[in-house]
Formats: sequence, C-alpha cells, structure tokens
Amino acid sequence: MSTNKHLIAPSVLAADFANLEKEVKMVNESEADWFHIDIMDGVFVPNISFGFPVMQAIAKHATKPLDVHLMIVDPDRYLKVCKDSGAAVITVHYEACTHLHRTLAAIKELGCKAGVALNPHTPVQLLKDVIQDIDLVCIMSVNPGFGGQKFIEHTYAKVRELRALAAGVNDSLLIEIDGGVSTANAAKLVNAGADVLVAGSFVFNAENPIQTIKSLKSISSN
Ligand code: DX5
Ligand code: ZN
Repeated sequence: MSTNKHLIAPSVLAADFANLEKEVKMVNESEADWFHIDIMDGVFVPNISFGFPVMQAIAKHATKPLDVHLMIVDPDRYLKVCKDSGAAVITVHYEACTHLHRTLAAIKELGCKAGVALNPHTPVQLLKDVIQDIDLVCIMSVNPGFGGQKFIEHTYAKVRELRALAAGVNDSLLIEIDGGVSTANAAKLVNAGADVLVAGSFVFNAENPIQTIKSLKSISSN
C-alpha cells in the first residue's frame, strides 16, 4: 500500500468530554478520515465509556464517518440504535457474538459497514469461514477497555496473517489497528497491511492534535 492510502481514525475516548464540540471540530478540520467511537458496557470490558446519547451529540457536529467499536456483550440488542445514532461502520467483538454470521448480516441490513474486532488472544484464523462477509477487521493491539496502553508487538504478525487469509477471498477487506498507535509504529503497521489506524491518547494528549494527525497521515510506507 502506498503512502497516504491509509485512514486515520482518532478515538474520541481520549478527548476532553467537557469540550466535546471543540474536540469534534478539531477532528473535522484535521486530515483525519473517521471518528472512532468506543462504546463500553462494563461487562465485556472492565470499564464504562459513554453510550448512544453522547454518540448522537458527537454525530451532530461530526462531518466525517463514525466508526463505532462496540465493546459490549450481546451487541445485537444495540445495532439499530447504533445505526440511528449515526454509525457508518459498526464493529462487534468476535468474543461477544454467539452467531457472528447473523450479526454481520444484521449490520449490513441496516446499511452500515460490518466490522469484527479481535482481542489480542484471539487468532485471526477463527475468521476463516466468515472472512468474505466482513468489511473491516479491527485487530486489538491492546486489551480493550482503556486508552493509553502499551502496543503489543505481536500485532504485526497478526496483520500479515490476516492479509494472507483474506487474499483472493476478500481483497477489499479493511484491516484496522486499535491501541497504542503512534508515529513509532504506524509505518510498520501500514507496511504489514493495515488500512485504518485508530489513535486516542497519541492524538488528544498531544500539544498540537491537528499536526499529530497530519504526522500519522503522512508517514512514509512502502
Ligand atoms: C481501547 C479502545 C481504543 C482506545 C485507543 O479499548 O478500543 O480505541 O481508545 O486508545 P489509545 O490510542 O490511547 O491506545
Ligand atoms: Zn476502539
């Protein structure tokens, strides 16, 4: 993949929640491609972030697609409200779905792109029989639940393995990386086959978030 083809999705989890409108407008004005929206239920992950009313408030100001990462058990219950709250991409966790094939069909039925997230311990090979039905795979490069964690190095191997698994079956599959992404690992991730880089604390804790997004967008890759 050549330079600048990859997408940048700042994770609002790391934004200043008391100044959400300002934070959303910053992302609108930046070179970011998507908003990454982390919804947690305190059951699937040991943390609670925010729910659909807050997502709707973000959607009101956002001028770019909302990429929603549902870290919740039994996500089927919330697909419709997620779509109605402004989602363009809905990603559910492999580990949270008993009938993943059915869940992916339900997301597409709503007119959204269907994503599957894999926890760090979940092998990409488990997607083999459903790979052709997925628009995006989110490879978690930290254990989900919190921003600001250390990037897990084994992620590069998973990206390469997933790209190989999808080859010839789903060549338009988007591979997203979520957790601990920065300019220290972005180029290597894109070279391994990543298409979408999520970045939370690296962007929102930066002195100049617009410039930081630009630096992620303009990394040089092969
Ligand atoms: C973690 C979330 C991530 C998080 C990334 O559970 O899914 O999207 O916001 O944050 P950073 O980039 O700080 O690791
Ligand atoms: Zn996320």
